[in-house]
Amino acid sequence: MLLHIDAVLSEEEAARCRAALEQADWVDGRATAGYQSARAKHNLQLAEDHPLALELGEHIVSVLEKNALFMGAALPLRVFPPLFNRYDGGHSFGTHVDNAVRQVRSTGHRIRTDLSATLFLTNPEDYEGGELVIEDSHGAQSVKLPAGHMVLYPSTSLHHVRPVTHGARISSFFWIQSMIRGDAQRTLLFDLDMAIQRLAADSRNDLSAVQLTGIYHNLIRMWAEI
Ligand code: NI
Repeated sequence: MLLHIDAVLSEEEAARCRAALEQADWVDGRATAGYQSARAKHNLQLAEDHPLALELGEHIVSVLEKNALFMGAALPLRVFPPLFNRYDGGHSFGTHVDNAVRQVRSTGHRIRTDLSATLFLTNPEDYEGGELVIEDSHGAQSVKLPAGHMVLYPSTSLHHVRPVTHGARISSFFWIQSMIRGDAQRTLLFDLDMAIQRLAADSRNDLSAVQLTGIYHNLIRMWAEI
């Protein structure tokens, strides 16, 4: 499932992040790439242990923990501390697949990448190109969202970032290990969750909503790895 999550950060918050990041020291993005993706990756990145990356990353994770849509769709077990990248002057990232397992440098913890997330921090009108193109079961989906909006997609998908031919595109990107490893099961749980919420809005459906909520939790009990 590919999901847009609107306004993870407000426009003002995204602008503040962007202003701070514009002053930061960027390094070659290949620092965190695997062997195959290093050959395709041409962008800049904030070092993983850069104080600004840690500060903004913590804020993003704390905001996401209160975001019902994110929590319901990702069913997160662990979130990789958000990283930040910058594409300008023709930078691009050719077709690749994200590494299956990533180690958090500060803690040594390993995270299985079930879901990939890109949080856009620059508004689309401020740069040309830079679409994130994700190949999913419905074909290639091109994603370019307003500042503060995020896309969540299965890390199993091939994806690329088209060249930024004008302006600069600054984003945060990170991975999530979900309690539910498989995209099919996770999507089914999310659809069920959404349907229960619609049903529960009408008090005449109380008993059905309770029964279906029980089924939802029993499926999580059956499938969750924690
Ligand atoms: Ni990637």
